[in-house]
Amino acid sequence: MSDPARERPDPHSFSRPDQVRVTHVGLSWVVDFDAKTLTGDAILLLDRVDPKAPLILDSRDLDIKQVYAANLGDAAKAGEHGVPELASKATREHPSFAEVEWRSETNEKTGETGDLDLGTALIISLPPEADTVKITYATRPDATGLQWLSPAQTAGKAQPFLYSQSQAIHARSWIPSQDSPGVRTSWDAEVIVDTPLTAVMAAEQLGPVAPEQVAPEQGAPVERTRSFRFVMPQAVPAYLIALGVGDLERAQIGARTAVWADPTVVAAAADEFADMEAMLSSAEELYGDYAWGRYDVLVLPPAFPFGGMENPRLTFATPTILAGDRSLVSLIAHELAHSWSGNLVTNATWGDMWLNEGFTVYFERRIVEAIYGRAQSEIEATIGKRELIEEISDPEQLGDRPDFQILDADLVGVDPDDYFSGVPYEKGYLFLRGLEEAYGRPVFDAFLLGWFEGNRFGSVSTEDFITYAETELRAKHQLPEGRTAPDFEIWLRTPGLPEDAPEPTAEILAEVEAQAQAFASGERKAKAITSKKWSPWLWLHFLRSLPDSLSVEQMTALDDAHHLTESSNAEIVGQWLVLAATARYEPAFPRMETFLIEVGRRKFLTPIYRALANTEEGETQAIRIYAKARPGYHSISRGTIDGIVGEP
Ligand code: BES
Ligand code: ZN
Repeated sequence: MSDPARERPDPHSFSRPDQVRVTHVGLSWVVDFDAKTLTGDAILLLDRVDPKAPLILDSRDLDIKQVYAANLGDAAKAGEHGVPELASKATREHPSFAEVEWRSETNEKTGETGDLDLGTALIISLPPEADTVKITYATRPDATGLQWLSPAQTAGKAQPFLYSQSQAIHARSWIPSQDSPGVRTSWDAEVIVDTPLTAVMAAEQLGPVAPEQVAPEQGAPVERTRSFRFVMPQAVPAYLIALGVGDLERAQIGARTAVWADPTVVAAAADEFADMEAMLSSAEELYGDYAWGRYDVLVLPPAFPFGGMENPRLTFATPTILAGDRSLVSLIAHELAHSWSGNLVTNATWGDMWLNEGFTVYFERRIVEAIYGRAQSEIEATIGKRELIEEISDPEQLGDRPDFQILDADLVGVDPDDYFSGVPYEKGYLFLRGLEEAYGRPVFDAFLLGWFEGNRFGSVSTEDFITYAETELRAKHQLPEGRTAPDFEIWLRTPGLPEDAPEPTAEILAEVEAQAQAFASGERKAKAITSKKWSPWLWLHFLRSLPDSLSVEQMTALDDAHHLTESSNAEIVGQWLVLAATARYEPAFPRMETFLIEVGRRKFLTPIYRALANTEEGETQAIRIYAKARPGYHSISRGTIDGIVGEP
């Protein structure tokens, strides 16, 4: 039987932008921390490609109240910010909105194969002249794209916190939308929050409106709330719409850069990210002007399941990169690089994710090279390659999933969250680096610049890349004698890591490995490990190079000499706790418990829980800790850890 998902432009969206395309979205919400809901409306401006077709939107667990349609005509024309202001009161209450019929359909009803839950299709009948739809709705407390945090889960412990995380297909749980990376819209929003909370979005911030200007019809007492206005004039896919609400302060870094964070964290964050302005300039030198105006970072509470998320103009970042020594800022380079690869030029579907992530890792390492030197970028590339090899050979990870080892992935019937791995990142990176090494950097840089310029504000598929490379690289440039280029078919469409994968060189890592071996075999004492000049990255590599079979005595000696349990670098603690779980090193268990309860970053949680689950004692411990920690985790992290420890 043919799968209807294959017939739609994007197998993870019910929408048919080839029939009706949303071009602008106006969002208006009241944020209610007691009820854990956003309540308000979404107004969608339409391009009726096929005038007879209904509008089909994605949704997931939304409480839809009413759906209206209107012909707004000139009332939906661009305002002073260059886009329609649909979230304004005047538009929302426009007299021509009239209720229309709509129905919802789930996967099963549309005949989808497999049990992948894509949410619910909203099918809205459109009157012949309608150019706009208004949906009044509320989100549910367990919306997969939102996390509602208690004050206790924040740094300042004073106010609650809300943030969104929409990649890959979670925008639909808080915005009825054509939730496909292939559909771009501009948008504007109005967000009403309780004083003294601040709302930020991945958009131009028009600032808080004074309390007395707040519309009283929203039901909240006028003086207790404030309203924030936002405009995103550039067209972006739904997964890049983002919201954060909390006790937030802003600290400027450079002319175009700033950081938003909890008042107790903001100074440390501004110091940690001091190089952001320089990163922005060096990124522009590589691949063209920054298209988004400002580049700010929002530091989230530690429950955030990822390291970073490239929401345009406002990267969301985990506080676990605040190491105090700027050692983990390549994550910011990565999210900044997405301003080109991902946000400006976007993967058409999630099966093309390497076009976002592989390009971004390549670009990230070029920024790190420009600012911190080639030695550092090579260390990161070497570690990345090693982790990829481990991941694709480990049967507990991708060993048994050849389908997930492929760059041009077929994700029909597959949850894009499940495809997330080092493959689109590091295999994608190595493929691009292979092209760079074959054709030389000047040719390759011009090639990439052309890719970004030619596809600005567009969506790209792997097929588009192959065609572009065929004409712009292979047909135009001769390879130097004796050099071969990576084979596209092998790199893009076969599992595993091809034999001609580039080999980054970082000699210092071999020294670190030698020390790890010498320590493990008992040849070298913990105190004699020459670590004085080791950066956190080298420490991390040292820990990763130790065998699984360390004794409690060896762990004790390392800890006594180097205070690893007490390290303030989350990468180091994370890796140390994996060793501690494996060796059953008890002095680290209190730290392990606090870490697992406080930090929700999936990359740290997964290996620790996995290591615990490997022994009987550890499994009991994992179940006990997880029962306490799980309510504080984001649904994405819960999904992953449920698969390791089991649902409590
Ligand atoms: N866009 C990703 C995060 C993401 C990927 C969210 C897939 C949802 C689905 C972001 O740019 C990213 O790659 N973050 C990494 C950090 C980076 C330095 C590799 C992370 O969160 O670990
Ligand atoms: Zn990324």
